[in-house]
Amino acid sequence: MDTIKLVLAGCGQMGGRWLDYALQRKDAEPVALVDVAPASAAAMNDRFGLKLPVYSTVEEAIRETRAVLLLDTTIPDAHASNACVAMEMGAGVMMEKPMATTMVDAQRLIDISKRTGAFCAVMQNRRFTKEIRSLKAMLDEGIIGKPGYVAADFFLGPRFGGFRETMEHPLILDMAIHTFDAARYLIDARPTAVYCHEFNPEGSWYRGASSAACFFEFENGAAFSYNGSWSAQGFPTSWEGSWRLSGSKGTAIWDGDNMPHFQTANEGAGGGLASINGDLRWSGAERRDACLDEMFDSYRNGTRSETDIHDNIHSVAMMLGAIESSRRGARVKLSELYSM
Ligand SMILES: NC(=O)c1ccc[n+]([C@@H]2O[C@H](COP(=O)([O-])OP(=O)(O)OC[C@H]3O[C@@H](n4cnc5c(N)ncnc54)[C@H](O)[C@@H]3O)[C@@H](O)[C@H]2O)c1
Repeated sequence: MDTIKLVLAGCGQMGGRWLDYALQRKDAEPVALVDVAPASAAAMNDRFGLKLPVYSTVEEAIRETRAVLLLDTTIPDAHASNACVAMEMGAGVMMEKPMATTMVDAQRLIDISKRTGAFCAVMQNRRFTKEIRSLKAMLDEGIIGKPGYVAADFFLGPRFGGFRETMEHPLILDMAIHTFDAARYLIDARPTAVYCHEFNPEGSWYRGASSAACFFEFENGAAFSYNGSWSAQGFPTSWEGSWRLSGSKGTAIWDGDNMPHFQTANEGAGGGLASINGDLRWSGAERRDACLDEMFDSYRNGTRSETDIHDNIHSVAMMLGAIESSRRGARVKLSELYSM
């Protein structure tokens, strides 16, 4: 088995977690670090007892080390340009979400990946918990029929400091992509349109819009309603959000942290509702490790990852469509933003 020589770009909080994972893989070898702040890369070397060469650009790092894979955990605005450079140099890419912060960049990534055949996939760790995998398995078995009206509440008040507190769209760009991606996973259809209102309520410690209400339409007729805030104090939801999925035969309730519960309509003359607890349908690794395992397996097998950019672009379209809708104060058809 060939060793996968890889470069890690972005030596911050996530960079440490990804490097930790990469160092534990027997088939991978980190060969360089990239960061615009050399001190962060030096600190990463110290933390892991490494002496990897440090570069300030992905291009230099790949050229000097002949690495074949880029792991990108830089800030959202840097992901697309780093991935474009890596793919043009023949390297594969695994990156933190979001894959891009403009649709033009997202489309450019798709075009380069198609032209070069380069692997490019995105971290969507919140698709890989045992709870959401079990919920999806039971939805696929038809427990509530087709989910037609799906709603998620997300209310938390984290104080991160750093780039999130100065971003224009911290909630939508840095967090809601997870919930949107989860909605797309659960509804299992393409999103087609969105109406969104972004705002920054009284008391928020973010410079940009910490809160948003969004309503998405899907090609199969389903709708997804999202209410979210990153400056909500008190009664927090889970980081996965608090969900209600209403289907043709019943409803699923999921608090994000625990297994889902279902109420389904009894068939026959008596009618009434049956209550069903969710069964565990997933074992093994979860979250970041599971998503990275899946990306590495796909990379090795030459197959498309579940979170490949060709699929993930639809989650990005939900995110950027929501921002565009809020800017216009009008419903936006996602086909106006991109063609797939
Ligand atoms: N999937 C998740 O659950 C999850 C959780 C947290 C963060 N993230 C994502 O991970 C990414 C990084 O977040 P973080 O919290 O580690 O941020 P961070 O600020 O701790 O680290 C980012 C690092 O990238 C470096 N950097 C910035 N621009 C660069 C560039 N052009 N080239 C090279 N290095 C550059 C910075 O100097 C910094 O060291 C973001 O995209 C964020 O959305 C994902």
